[in-house]
Amino acid sequence: MTYQQLAEENYKRFCALEGSEYIASEYAIKTILRLVENFKAKNILEVGLGIGAICDSVLQYDKMKNLGLHYVGTEANGFCLDALQKNVIDFDTIELYSGVSEVPVQQFDLIIVDGADESFAKIASLCHKDTIIYIEGDRGPQTRSVKEIFPNAKHVNVITLKRNHEYAHGSSTPETYMGGGQLIFTDPTLGRKLFWFVEKVKSFTRRNIRDLKDMIK
Ligand SMILES: C[S@@+](CC[C@H](N)C(=O)[O-])C[C@H]1O[C@@H](n2cnc3c(N)ncnc32)[C@H](O)[C@@H]1O
Repeated sequence: MTYQQLAEENYKRFCALEGSEYIASEYAIKTILRLVENFKAKNILEVGLGIGAICDSVLQYDKMKNLGLHYVGTEANGFCLDALQKNVIDFDTIELYSGVSEVPVQQFDLIIVDGADESFAKIASLCHKDTIIYIEGDRGPQTRSVKEIFPNAKHVNVITLKRNHEYAHGSSTPETYMGGGQLIFTDPTLGRKLFWFVEKVKSFTRRNIRDLKDMIK
């Protein structure tokens, strides 16, 4: 199974689960799996585990490819903590904390942000030079905060031309595009700058295609 198929199947599974309104988009799950594969991320932090759509997908991918990932996550909501135990196949492998302030200082290869956190600024002490940060959706304040902390950061708003499925979560409808996210390289090396540039071009092209489609509608 490819990471794309895994993301599609698991997103569909999570859409049918109780409390699925706030899960990450299928495109976000695909993007995160692509980052794990592309950049060989081993040490991963997810801020806001919710009901587990992202972490279960990453942990299933870990099992499939035998990657030996270290997955740390934060969640404080009681309903979500119960749901995680039911929904995440390898729940026991998650190192779980109630918030970022509780996470022991260490350097993560990939930080996924899908929830608010009062101690968000601590993120700076959890990054190494090549850390990649993926912020799900828009989350403007958190994106601005990361860019302030890392003045050399390269940021791209990744988007897709795929529209939502009939079964999509929350208020998503088949008329709207799947949600994108904010991809940030904190202090990228040349290889990562190249990746960022290609993503910039892809997002620019996709935005123009979206505008064109809207115009001829
Ligand atoms: C966008 S959600 C995180 C989604 C998660 N990354 C996923 O893909 O399943 C952000 C926060 O909203 C809260 N939340 C998510 N789903 C909820 C629900 N069904 N009921 C109450 N709170 C919820 C949790 O505290 C969570 O950390």
